[in-house]
Amino acid sequence: MPKLVIVNRAGEESTVDAASGLSVMEAIRDNGFDELLALCGGCCSCATCHVHVDPEWADKLPAMSEDENDLLDSSDHRGANSRLSCQIQLTDALDGLKVAIAPED
Ligand code: FES
Repeated sequence: MPKLVIVNRAGEESTVDAASGLSVMEAIRDNGFDELLALCGGCCSCATCHVHVDPEWADKLPAMSEDENDLLDSSDHRGANSRLSCQIQLTDALDGLKVAIAPED
């Protein structure tokens, strides 16, 4: 079961256990982080599940789709390591992945 390190908007870090196969968004939401709205439920159409991936992990993630890239462009808080957390599937290879919930747009 991969561990996921989540940094909330206050900068507080928590480590949670998350089942493989869940998306990072589902793992964050299921662990009670209500600041991640994930309004579209993971359909890649809202960008309210925006996270900043720790630089150490950024190149270990699958490439983003054109849709994800376009949606991230709508955020004022897009950075070099921005991703939509609903588009990242957790696997054992991502054990220890660290993401910070992006500021609200
Ligand atoms: S939950 Fe809407 S784009 Fe990720």
